[in-house]
Amino acid sequence: MAKRIVILTGAGVSAESGVPTFRGPDGLWEGHRVEDVATPQAFDRDPRLVQSFYDQRRAALAGVQPNPAHHALARLDSAWPHGKDHDLLLVTQNVDDLHERAGSRRMLHMHGDLKSAWCLACDSRTPWTGPLLDAPVCPVCNARGHLRPDIVWFGEMPYHMARIDRALARADLFVSIGTSGNVYPAAGFVDLARKAGADTLELNLDQSMASDRFAQSRLGPAGTLVPALVDDLLGTESSAR
Ligand code: APR
Repeated sequence: MAKRIVILTGAGVSAESGVPTFRGPDGLWEGHRVEDVATPQAFDRDPRLVQSFYDQRRAALAGVQPNPAHHALARLDSAWPHGKDHDLLLVTQNVDDLHERAGSRRMLHMHGDLKSAWCLACDSRTPWTGPLLDAPVCPVCNARGHLRPDIVWFGEMPYHMARIDRALARADLFVSIGTSGNVYPAAGFVDLARKAGADTLELNLDQSMASDRFAQSRLGPAGTLVPALVDDLLGTESSAR
């Protein structure tokens, strides 16, 4: 029976909230090639394009709400025991704030957070809800025009990797939800979890690049599959007590 759980989420968990996934059928992310908006080179080349792209994504968060998948994961977080034997870690690749708005607490944003700004002058990170295009002043060092989105772009190191690796090495269940398995290191978490002896489960709308590396894949919308999984986990846990 699972006691130490690591859950990885991707864009598919927010799709039913109306947040577009990255890899649409046309291969574009909201009309842009990923290389034009999500790399440090793109930011050097055309900072205004990149800032306005992320400003729009940040502003759009006001119009979306957590869906049943986010709520179910928050329910799991509040009910799952902490302790010597039990643990839970939710790792999201998403830069939206829907998991925390639903109430998840034991969670990490490995690809950054739209609602955070990173000052390249003083290296501080500040909660941020407004635009960055108009070159605001850093509230920590007062330098103007050095804030960038606190997003991990392609070619940059994802956040919290040491903590994630430690949790995977101890996990007995790894669940991946709504991710296409295209982007490493997240796409390799299933292999680390298997090496640690964990059971592995994928929930996704359709087959992903990684499906054949999971012990089990369930196909369908996250808004249906995730609440059912959480009911199962909490039901099994309470009958074991
Ligand atoms: N329920 C479950 N899965 C869904 C749903 C849904 N309602 N809708 C879409 N999906 C699945 C798609 O089938 C796809 O496999 O979610 C996956 C989304 O894949 P991507 O768009 O590639 O998103 P993700 O895997 O999160 O991308 C990883 O790539 O661009 C970078 O840094 C960015 O964090 C992002 C990373």
